[in-house]
Amino acid sequence: MNFYVLTLFPEMIQNAVETSITGRAIKSGSISVDTVNIRDFSTRKTMRVDDYPYGGGAGMVMEPEPVFRAVKSVEGKIGGRPRVVYMTPQAQVLDQTKVESLAQEKNLIILCGHYEGIDERVLQETVTDYISIGDYVLTGGELGALVLIDAVSRFVPGVLSNEESSQFESLQDNLLEYPQYTRPEIWHEMSVPSVLLSGDHLRIEKWRHEESLKRTKERRPDLLKNSYRVVCVSYGEPGAAEKGRALTECITRYGEYMDYNRRKLQKTTFRMKPWNLLLMVMPGAAGEGSTSCREAETVVCYDPALSFAERFRGLYGSETPAVLVGSREELAEASSFLEARKFRIIARISPAVFDEDTLLRNTALDIREKTLHFH
Ligand code: ADE
Repeated sequence: MNFYVLTLFPEMIQNAVETSITGRAIKSGSISVDTVNIRDFSTRKTMRVDDYPYGGGAGMVMEPEPVFRAVKSVEGKIGGRPRVVYMTPQAQVLDQTKVESLAQEKNLIILCGHYEGIDERVLQETVTDYISIGDYVLTGGELGALVLIDAVSRFVPGVLSNEESSQFESLQDNLLEYPQYTRPEIWHEMSVPSVLLSGDHLRIEKWRHEESLKRTKERRPDLLKNSYRVVCVSYGEPGAAEKGRALTECITRYGEYMDYNRRKLQKTTFRMKPWNLLLMVMPGAAGEGSTSCREAETVVCYDPALSFAERFRGLYGSETPAVLVGSREELAEASSFLEARKFRIIARISPAVFDEDTLLRNTALDIREKTLHFH
């Protein structure tokens, strides 16, 4: 991924990105960071790029033309029109979903302002995204640009080693990370929670999820309003459940799985909450050549004779967002049934999504963004 930073202080950017993990990523070619000095595009002999604000007031304003020319110089170089991010406190604060969405880009221009800001007209004409890094005012956009480059780079393939990257981070679930411990087992008379020494991975996962929730409630309750619990409901041959798991694991670290081949579930009433996300994976999602029940080790078998309405007679939503995966006919049948049960379908997905890894990951990101803006 290539970053182009438009700034009056290029050395501030270059010095910082050349160290640590971003420095390593630049050397290995996973990312590049080019700086463009806006001053080089000044239209004046003095090389100044700022002027007094119309209407009076303190401070200076950056002129539109040098900024415009700097943007055009990058566009000319790469032969395209990438997203142009303007770092400003007058914007939504950067979060992990936005970071991930920007990491999908091949090229990104980051525009840093100084003084009292940049002439509004060039922002209107060139900027696609406005980003703040927090509700405080900095002297310029450079520190924000560095934060953005660092956070986005972590999602660029090859930047983090396997050990450095966790497949999923709890912030992607809008939860804070659970507490971590290392040796010694007892330190200053405090011991490591015993569950972590149990070797029971299911119990450990459950404990970590609970601790994440507890910590988020205590320290960042505002995050919880954007925290969804994904419930993956599947039925069909075992391939459908496998596909459901693959997609769920790209969306969340803490998915819940329900196999509606099970008679017991079919007879139970289950009311999903507005902060759940239903991911319904139907037999068509498994595609050709999937393992059939007889070959698989699972004991619960799929009964194709059971109608959709019978199978899900106990399932209700309450303005619950839902994502459906299946064949065209399955999607149509499920949509009308679930809508009548107060689910709101936010995406209908064809089995082709599983053909390619990047397609699956982009779809998962899309689902997360839609869910975030759902209510
Ligand atoms: N420029 C000045 N303050 C800023 C902030 N909080 N975020 C991003 N860019 C800025």
